Amino acid sequence: MFKYLSLALTALLLTASPSMATAEDGAPIVIKFSHVSAESTPKGQGALLFKKLVEERLAGKVKVEVYANSALFGDGEELAALADGRVQMLAPSLSKFDKYTKRLQVFDLPFLFTDQAAVDRFLKREKSRELLRSMNSSNIYGLGFWTNGMKQLSANKALRTPADAKGLAFRIQASSVLEAQFAALGATTVKLPFAETYKALESGTVQGTENPWSNFVSQKFEKVQPYVTITNHGVLSYMVVTNSKFWTSIPFQIRTELESILDEVTLSVNQTAEANNQRDYEALVAGGKAKIITLTPAEQAAWREAMLPVWKQFEGEIGADVLHAARAVNRK
Ligand code: LMR
Repeated sequence: MFKYLSLALTALLLTASPSMATAEDGAPIVIKFSHVSAESTPKGQGALLFKKLVEERLAGKVKVEVYANSALFGDGEELAALADGRVQMLAPSLSKFDKYTKRLQVFDLPFLFTDQAAVDRFLKREKSRELLRSMNSSNIYGLGFWTNGMKQLSANKALRTPADAKGLAFRIQASSVLEAQFAALGATTVKLPFAETYKALESGTVQGTENPWSNFVSQKFEKVQPYVTITNHGVLSYMVVTNSKFWTSIPFQIRTELESILDEVTLSVNQTAEANNQRDYEALVAGGKAKIITLTPAEQAAWREAMLPVWKQFEGEIGADVLHAARAVNRK
């Protein structure tokens, strides 16, 4: 009787905690790292470096499987998969956590950071460390921030002034701030998973979008977006996340080693992201398929002015403390 009760209890525990790490039986802990970007991008490179270092330093104890290009889960599915243990690590863009915390919306505010170096400074501040813990109540545990780059606008027509965007439909990530940013231009938006963007641009469901160079080039968007305007109006950064229950179930020594590897990878991703984007920008120019529009300072200021009212709309939800800390990094 006792044996059956204990078997039933074990079965119950296993179903209740599908994401528990199991190292006791000698089998390695498997970390499935799923993401939506190409392997050539800063995130793609980071995931592969994490796998390489883990397999060198924790051989036989931890096995990392990387699934790029939405091959395992796409946007809209991956966070649910993290919650029920079908995947153990993700690095979604900060725009995709809207449902879990409003504080991360700060990263979507247009023209908030003057350049990538300012974003890098903010990610090292105490306030950013605090943001890593902002989704604890949903069991989402932030392990670090990875950057990609500044976003540029693209469309099927030349965008030189904010009025040029009026009436167009833009593909956006699932973010209310980005929705408001395009509404401020008189444009409409469609929230679409990254993997569906190319098709939507090709079919004309949407006519424009925004990306850093690495994503634009790796998705071959120049085939369906003949014009890119260098606006640097926003940033694309990620949070590497795991499931808190899964993470704390990993034996302490292994977990500490994983965290130290991740810190090393984070440093590498963030140090090389800008060069990675510059390489892709140069490849795009050399390819000659897209017309790249460089704005004058006055034209750039007009985009800023058109999008700036968005800040007022969201500062309450984001919190004055976060906004203040982010603005402070523009002054070195
Ligand atoms: C996007 O959906 O545009 C980005 O978040 C894709 C990415 O780099 O993760």
